Parts: sequence; structure tokens; C-alpha cells
Amino acid sequence: TRDKMPPLKGDILVHASEDKEGQPVTVAELGEKLVRAWPQGKDAQGQPLIRKGDPNNVLALYKFPKGQIVAPTNMDATIDGEIVAYSDICTHAGCSVGDNDQQVGEMKCPCHSGQYDPKRACMVVGGPPPRRLAQLPIRLEGSNLVVADFFLENPYPFNESEWEARKK
Ligand code: FES
Repeated sequence: TRDKMPPLKGDILVHASEDKEGQPVTVAELGEKLVRAWPQGKDAQGQPLIRKGDPNNVLALYKFPKGQIVAPTNMDATIDGEIVAYSDICTHAGCSVGDNDQQVGEMKCPCHSGQYDPKRACMVVGGPPPRRLAQLPIRLEGSNLVVADFFLENPYPFNESEWEARKK
């Protein structure tokens, strides 16, 4: 069903936090602290539908001062090299990754302390995760953050064949 589909091109990013769930994320709300978002598409009647039927769809958004986001981040998939989106699902065992309270602008998984650097393509900088978090291409449409393309790599804590199957 559509609420379980992964983020698709054209989806709007809306807040996933309880107090703001469903409200479109704006640029002004972003910064070096993690903002969690869901992709919102449309149902069969064309009404807005948050794709939260699959917990693996939760996304992590950050905004860093210009010049801080660097390779191997795909800059074309960011907004102005300042705003970047990733899967928030740890590639180790699928927990939702949060901020690293000891290191501003880094991420740390609450389950087994996997660490990622969102300024460098969410590469693994500590702990057991086997792969970086997948980057999701985004763009600005009016004041909305919109999904520009499918994940650039496998966003799931699953093997490659499962990822290939989901891409279709
Ligand atoms: Fe994230 Fe294990 S699930 S480090």
C-alpha cells in the first residue's frame, strides 16, 4: 500500500516528531540538530498521505553552514550544499539514529553506538554499522523540501537483493 512505499520523487518532507507530525518541514527549522521527517505522497484519491506505514521510511535532515558538507556527499543531491537528507535507519540492525550528544553535527545510534558523519555522506565513523546511511536527493519547491530522486544507495539494514527488490 502507498503508505508503505519508500520516499518517491515529488514527495514532500513533513515532520515526524510527535508535536509537529505532518507539518511540512521548512528551511528555517533546520540546523546542526537532527530533524526527523517522513515523506508525504498522495493516496489513490489524491489526498496527502504520510508514508509512515514502513518505519524504515523515517529520514534525517540537517543544515550546515556552506562549505562544511564535503565529499563523498553527493552535492547535486543537497539543497545549495547546505541541506542534506539521509535515511535515519541504522544499517547495522535498523534502529533510528539520533544526534551524537558528545559531538555536535554527528550522529550516534542508541542501540550499539554506531556513529555517522552527516557532513561526509553519513560515512561510518565508529561502531558496528557495515555501511553509511543512504543519502536521499532533495530540492526546494516553494517553501517545501521535496524528494528529487530515489535513494542513492541501499537505505535498509537488509542485504542488496532486498534493496534491489524494493527499488522496483
Ligand atoms: Fe545501530 Fe546497531 S542498530 S549500531
